[in-house]
Amino acid sequence: MEVSASCSYALLLFSIFLIFIYSFPSKQNHLFLAFEPPPASTHNTSHLSTEPLPSSSTRNTSHLSAESLPSASSSVPAGNNTIIPIKKRCRLERIEADLAQARAAIHEAIQKRSFKSDKDEIFIPRGSMYRNAYAFQQSHIEMVKRFKIWAYRDGERPLVHSGPLKHIYAIEGQFIDEIENGNSSFIAQHPDEAHAFFAPVSVQHIVEYVYRPITSYDRDRLVRTFKDYIMVVAHKYPYWNASNGADHFMLSCHDWAPGVSVDDPELYKNFVRVLCNANMSEGFQPERDATLPEFNISPLSLTRHWFSKPPQNRSILAFFSGGRHGDIREGLINHWVGKDNEIQVNEYLPKGKDYARLMGDSKYCLCPSGFEVASPRLVESFHSGCVPVIISSNYSLPFNDVLDWTKFSVNIPVEKIPEIKKILQGIPEYEYLKMQKRVTKLRRHFQLNRPPKPFDALHMVLHSIWLRRLNIRLQH
Ligand SMILES: *[C@@H]1O[C@H](CO)[C@@H](O)[C@H](O)[C@H]1NC(C)=O
Ligand SMILES: *[C@@H]1O[C@H](CO)[C@@H](O)[C@H](O)[C@H]1NC(C)=O
Ligand SMILES: *[C@@H]1O[C@H](CO)[C@@H](O)[C@H](O)[C@H]1NC(C)=O
Ligand SMILES: *[C@@H]1O[C@H](CO)[C@@H](O)[C@H](O)[C@H]1NC(C)=O
Ligand SMILES: *[C@@H]1O[C@H](CO)[C@@H](O)[C@H](O)[C@H]1NC(C)=O
Ligand SMILES: *[C@@H]1O[C@H](CO)[C@@H](O)[C@H](O)[C@H]1NC(C)=O
Ligand SMILES: *[C@@H]1O[C@H](CO)[C@@H](O)[C@H](O)[C@H]1NC(C)=O
Ligand SMILES: *[C@@H]1O[C@H](CO)[C@@H](O)[C@H](O)[C@H]1NC(C)=O
Repeated sequence: MEVSASCSYALLLFSIFLIFIYSFPSKQNHLFLAFEPPPASTHNTSHLSTEPLPSSSTRNTSHLSAESLPSASSSVPAGNNTIIPIKKRCRLERIEADLAQARAAIHEAIQKRSFKSDKDEIFIPRGSMYRNAYAFQQSHIEMVKRFKIWAYRDGERPLVHSGPLKHIYAIEGQFIDEIENGNSSFIAQHPDEAHAFFAPVSVQHIVEYVYRPITSYDRDRLVRTFKDYIMVVAHKYPYWNASNGADHFMLSCHDWAPGVSVDDPELYKNFVRVLCNANMSEGFQPERDATLPEFNISPLSLTRHWFSKPPQNRSILAFFSGGRHGDIREGLINHWVGKDNEIQVNEYLPKGKDYARLMGDSKYCLCPSGFEVASPRLVESFHSGCVPVIISSNYSLPFNDVLDWTKFSVNIPVEKIPEIKKILQGIPEYEYLKMQKRVTKLRRHFQLNRPPKPFDALHMVLHSIWLRRLNIRLQH
């Protein structure tokens, strides 16, 4: 592509594009109207080196500087700083043209109620549990075809480039690993071809390593370490400033992750945060941020053996097992433990009982919030063919932009915990059977595969990010 003299100064616009189609028709498009550069950092960034990493590292960041990049898009000579804004504009022009094609294809799919693909599609989403199955399918096709992410290479392990692969925060490390292992087709070969930029910092690893031994729950060090990283990349490369962070994202499953950006709302105003702890009372904005489903991954293997009885054979009306983590669980346990055979609420799993079997023998699985809003029980419900019962407040549900949760889950407000039995018994059998069937049909979206497969959990997470990128336009 040639450098065009008509390139003008980059402005940031918000277009109420796809989210309109999906789920937030009434929301204001206020997010990106004010366009101001982030304030300069006063923090000491030296420990997240801005310099090329030592040669013991396998990463070589020196080829990443904006000046020395091979020019993917133009014949602009390297080494002339005054040229960079032109490159930037033309990069955005090209990226935006690509996204415009994707939007057009999605619009067409919606109108024609069909899809267009260059490949055989292994899965065709259909059914009322999708807000718009045609839009979703085409959007997924366009994502697989086009979406490219650049993961910044600065910073060192373990805080950057690696995360937990097991237990409750596993999705954080699995995503980072997938993006970093070099096999993903979503990786840009060059930052100039990226639609989105990833800060591959692990909040869980910061908590694990920076806070070791943990003597303080003060989020201060986390906030500073994360901000240092953003400051490094924003100073070193042109990309953050070109969008004021709007095409940049972080991803974390740790409870503390929302705290990262509270300290500096101006800096992170547009920054996309992909979080398990999607608590709307703590600044999570569903139009800008995306919810990460929580997975409890066993140290032994990625997939656990689940168990699922046919719906008619399930003997337990509702099941829960877990600790007294937070007020909601406290209320649930206090009210229901040992009270009713049909509502099996356990503080600890009874001796000799198998968690997966109990889930697979229950019609409804209770998914209350714990110390934070997310629960791995949501994902586990899909694997057990158990209709999830969400007991939380201000939780933005995973993939809510694509999935209509009212069609396959029950929402019970926290204050109605004593009425759980009455509410569930009041759901007609045919209604339950419909929901149960949808739960089993949606299972693939909550399946974590390495390498990932189309429409699985990692693709759904990527799609959440893709959708948010489609929703903004970086004007040139
Ligand atoms: C930054 O941190 C490094 C090492 O932690 C220290 O040597 C240096 O003096 C600090 N600089 C400032 C400006 O605080
Ligand atoms: C890093 O890249 C620079 C410039 O491309 C090169 O001179 C240097 O040898 C590389 N270092 C390593 C460790 O690969
Ligand atoms: C960069 O390009 C401009 C305009 O072409 C020129 O005036 C300037 O001298 C160049 N600067 C360098 C450092 O090459
Ligand atoms: C990348 O993919 C190849 C072939 O599927 C596989 O053998 C290799 O282990 C993968 N690499 C990583 C780092 O996962
Ligand atoms: C981005 O903007 C900040 C604040 O204005 C500035 O300090 C930084 O140098 C800019 N980054 C680049 C790569 O120009
Ligand atoms: C959080 O939930 C409460 C109770 O459901 C509701 O009154 C409040 O408006 C919600 N706040 C946000 C920010 O969504
Ligand atoms: C389900 O129940 C039917 C009838 O009670 C029984 O014949 C069948 O074996 C049961 N299936 C399973 C998987 O338990
Ligand atoms: C969500 O955030 C609000 C406000 O900080 C807090 O009171 C509430 O406990 C949080 N929810 C959970 C489940 O942690």
